[in-house]
Amino acid sequence: MYRYDEFDRQFVTDRVMQFRDQANRRLTGELTEDEFRPLRLMNGLYLQLHAYMLRIAIPYGTLDSKKLNTLAEIAEKWDKGYGHFTTRQNLQFNWIKLEDTADILAKLAEVEMHAIQTSGNCIRNVTTDQWAGAAADELADPRPVGELVRQWSSLHPEFSYLPRKFKIAVTGSPNDRAAVKVHDIGLRLHLNDKGERGWEVLVGGGLGRTPVIAVTVRDFLPEHELIAYLEAIMRVYNLYGRRDNKYKARIKILVHEIGAEKFRAEVEAEYARRPHADTKVEERELQRITAYFAQPQFEKLPRWSASFEEARAKHKDFANWVRTNIAAHRVDGYAIVNISLKPEGGIPGDATADQMRVVADLALRYGFDEIRVSHHQNLVLPHVKRDDLFAVWKVLQASGLATSNIGLAGDIIACPGLDYCTLATARSIPIAQSISRKFADLNRQHEIGPLRINISGCINACGHHHVGHIGILGLDKKGEEFYQITLGGSSADNASIGTILGPGFAGEDVPEAIEKIVNTYIAHRQPGEEFLAAYRRLGPQPFKEALYAAA
Ligand code: HEM
Ligand code: SF4
Repeated sequence: MYRYDEFDRQFVTDRVMQFRDQANRRLTGELTEDEFRPLRLMNGLYLQLHAYMLRIAIPYGTLDSKKLNTLAEIAEKWDKGYGHFTTRQNLQFNWIKLEDTADILAKLAEVEMHAIQTSGNCIRNVTTDQWAGAAADELADPRPVGELVRQWSSLHPEFSYLPRKFKIAVTGSPNDRAAVKVHDIGLRLHLNDKGERGWEVLVGGGLGRTPVIAVTVRDFLPEHELIAYLEAIMRVYNLYGRRDNKYKARIKILVHEIGAEKFRAEVEAEYARRPHADTKVEERELQRITAYFAQPQFEKLPRWSASFEEARAKHKDFANWVRTNIAAHRVDGYAIVNISLKPEGGIPGDATADQMRVVADLALRYGFDEIRVSHHQNLVLPHVKRDDLFAVWKVLQASGLATSNIGLAGDIIACPGLDYCTLATARSIPIAQSISRKFADLNRQHEIGPLRINISGCINACGHHHVGHIGILGLDKKGEEFYQITLGGSSADNASIGTILGPGFAGEDVPEAIEKIVNTYIAHRQPGEEFLAAYRRLGPQPFKEALYAAA
């Protein structure tokens, strides 16, 4: 993990001091809420329906036990004992008091964390594959490049007042787990025939009210040109991105309005116009950063673990958990452990302070002190010995963290919705909870197979509903909440935007509607065919019939 240098440390500490003064001036009334707003947003402090909300950046979703224990301490001391992991690998505290905020930021600074650039029209937290550095299918760990981008984009004077917020995701694997196609810029690593590294650059993806899949503007950008090329993209956006209408200000609209070809030509022209000596990615610098992400000292282990196989044969619950929550590691004898923050009836992405401590402790004892946050709002221990999986599972189980539903119907993404969010048109959390209860039977979830249900409480799409296999969007019709259902979305390699199925449903009818959709899939699926593939083969008709025929 990247470590702060003296400059970083001093900067973050100074920022806390400045914010303490700003918050005090607000508390005494010297600053009005309007005057204070931009100051607090620059430090990730939002004002929500009931309280302030603090959004803390977790760069490329990487944590260690010290950081997670600090988040637990903050949750306990200054919030209501829990935190909420988000689809952009951040953590949000929903019940923050203004008078405590500077103390919280000071506490975060002690462990090299902050909330800068988690709001506003700047480049936000860079996200990546939650299995980075561990996945069996990975070409290379994408985090050093994520860190390079983070350092370049942090407080970049030219890119601090963009037309709108800007989100970048990086993946080093041929199987995209970072949703690069629905980000403003997605970066994807490729190796050429000579084994040289190059980055595919995707631009103009996004969700929100106008969902768009990104277009590729470069297939194979040599690594040393990466920052210079990103600058060219940002300049074209900064110059031509619309500032007259907030709903048309994202880069996706610019790419759409001028067309991908013209956009690409503008970027290439801007790129060609400038000498790049100052932005060349030096091999030495990349190596220096890469050293911070050095892989742990893995032991030489056999692929096969007798104790693991024995536990799996003996304990059915453990075997089920292994089926869904364990992923293949690059190194023999190790595994990736996915920790579900989606217990039956739970609030997706929420973890209590005690749970955070349990995970921190497990990471320290069994996982080289590494923890990741996934954009599906779960946690990950990326490097666990197969021999230790049973012990880890038992601890997780005792803390309500061993639900074996990763990637299944119960692993629902949901934004805070009307329970917290000022922009919401409907609640998302209770809908997620009722669907989770409806599909409580884990055997059934396993039988249904991979299924992504994503829920947003308004058109802003923080809950990624457009790219859920089943997407649910909460809207308001004459003061009543109702929910529109889309089918066929995906944020993976086969990315697509879901299609609206028909008229919406009242909240209490949503679980039954989902049940009907799932039953239709089961009735029509071919052997081994997953939900998304079946939907793409069948089209919406049978699902429409199941939902609306009787009405
Ligand atoms: C509670 C306070 C929040 C507010 C005020 C807020 C506001 C917004 C707005 C206005 C947009 C649309 C931006 C646009 O399209 O230009 C948006 C998009 C988004 N937000 Fe949030 N959001 C909040 C919480 C969250 C949470 C909790 C998550 C994660 C669960 C999240 C993740 C995202 C994502 C992934 C998008 C869509 C991706 C994109 O930008 O295209 N936000 N948010
Ligand atoms: S989707 Fe809407 S309701 Fe949900 S968090 Fe985003 S802005 Fe709020």
